[in-house]
Amino acid sequence: METIKLTIDNKTVEVEKGTTILKAARKIGIEIPTLCHFEMCDMNIENKPGGCRICVVEVDGRKNLAPACATEAQNGMVINSHNIRVLNARRTVLKLIISDHPFDCLVCAKSGNCELQSLATKFGIRDIPYQGEKSTYRKDTSPSIIRDVDKCIMCRRCEMMCNEVQTVGALSAVNRGFNSVVAPAFEMDLEKSPCTYCGQCVSVCPTGALTEVDHSNDVLRALSDRTKTVIVQTAPAVRAALGEEFGLEPGTSVTGKMAAALRRLGFKYVFDTDFAADLTIMEEGTELLDRLGRYLKGEENVKLPMILKVQIR
Ligand code: SF4
Ligand code: SF4
Ligand code: FES
Repeated sequence: METIKLTIDNKTVEVEKGTTILKAARKIGIEIPTLCHFEMCDMNIENKPGGCRICVVEVDGRKNLAPACATEAQNGMVINSHNIRVLNARRTVLKLIISDHPFDCLVCAKSGNCELQSLATKFGIRDIPYQGEKSTYRKDTSPSIIRDVDKCIMCRRCEMMCNEVQTVGALSAVNRGFNSVVAPAFEMDLEKSPCTYCGQCVSVCPTGALTEVDHSNDVLRALSDRTKTVIVQTAPAVRAALGEEFGLEPGTSVTGKMAAALRRLGFKYVFDTDFAADLTIMEEGTELLDRLGRYLKGEENVKLPMILKVQIR
């Protein structure tokens, strides 16, 4: 393994050749803000959109600021990641992004959990001097996912997730310039696209552009109706995910606690999905082994997450 040495904010760091400046900085505890960067697809630099420019840093000897997430660290590089030029550039980038974003944070489903909102707070953004046309697009509400494209910052993380990790290929950037959006082919609604509603694009969207449809109020209404017997059937993965959300060790099963909590909420019966889930896992496992086998034999166009392909290489 060939390694290189560089200096970031007066600290020397040694990393494997091919590492990005961002990764090198993180290795020594220097936090550089990101928006479009998507860790899971951090496999090769050519693959990176590097579109938002919030992660810019100053590299000695280079005229322009460089995006840390999409620039390969070089031996002997001297980098400044937090001087006034860099901070001003990041503030300008942020203001430009926000200038084409709705200001309805108070009623946005992502409020409190939005990366754009957090960055605006962190950078102390109090005014947006750039006024002009705002992009507008119709809202797409499918049975599970809401696409509110007006809140999209074109980071394209959803696209990478759908294409390179989930290998579904339901999303891609369409149109040009101010009219560009990330959408299914022919800008059709998600419901008519090959989307499987896996929800992974929602989990990586940094803003409220992709959110899940929330049925909580319907459930609460049913639970408060004394004439109804309300039953619940939980998805298999929830018992581990719930534990993690409450700070337990990832993977801890909280089946009993979950059933007790659901009963206390007022559900009359709690059902599990074990049998159907077991069948699905067997089916999926068999399919994965089949695809891996074909990929290892050199067959082209085998659908496998990019992350697996890179690890196999
Ligand atoms: S929910 Fe649909 S669009 Fe989103 S990653 Fe999954 S398949 Fe792709
Ligand atoms: S929908 Fe979300 S994840 Fe996709 S490009 Fe827009 S902001 Fe990024
Ligand atoms: S996070 Fe680096 S260019 Fe967007």
